[in-house]
Amino acid sequence: MENTPVPKNVAVLISGRGSNLRALIASEVRPAIRVVISNRADAAGLDAARDAGIEALVIQHRDFARREAFDHALVEALRERGIALVCLAGFMRLLGPTFCAAFPNAILNIHPSLLPAFPGVDAQRQAIEHGVKVSGVTVHFVDAGLDAGPIILQRPVPVLETDTAASLAERILVEEHRAYPEAVRMVLAGGWHIDGRRFTATR
Ligand code: GRF
Repeated sequence: MENTPVPKNVAVLISGRGSNLRALIASEVRPAIRVVISNRADAAGLDAARDAGIEALVIQHRDFARREAFDHALVEALRERGIALVCLAGFMRLLGPTFCAAFPNAILNIHPSLLPAFPGVDAQRQAIEHGVKVSGVTVHFVDAGLDAGPIILQRPVPVLETDTAASLAERILVEEHRAYPEAVRMVLAGGWHIDGRRFTATR
């Protein structure tokens, strides 16, 4: 995506609950969101899109024999709508090289740990089991690796002695709902650059 402050069309991809989607809709990012796409027809987040008058599209991965074909359908839907920035918000499918190549430095993800610690599923449980005293949230660019692209923003969340994976997840989620809109706003504002893996914002 161009690193300049022009209006951008944003798509949010979800698979389930959609609380991060709701946080984005409640933020100043809202006017840029053109479409919400879910790979599951029963994703609760689709209602959040519909309630906000945003197009809610279902593209089910299981309707495609190969991941490549699913990725291609997603890219096509995004291109048709002139999407410049894709925000993954609890989207539970790995995107292949076709998808990543179609949106270089223009796919964001939110992950409930301080990456590179605890990538993949169940990050909060991983943090508890590892015994870290601080975990948190990361918003990062998506590349071909798992939870691996350049980091845009991180927020720490202390791990309490009494925490379970569920209670930690709940407190991290509060930070997620602040961090994602802030990160998306920064990326949309332009004026940032990436050196190697280092993201620097000037606005
Ligand atoms: C969040 O914890 C997010 O960090 C992770 O998946 C969860 C999605 O939750 N990638 P929600 O659907 O946004 O409520």
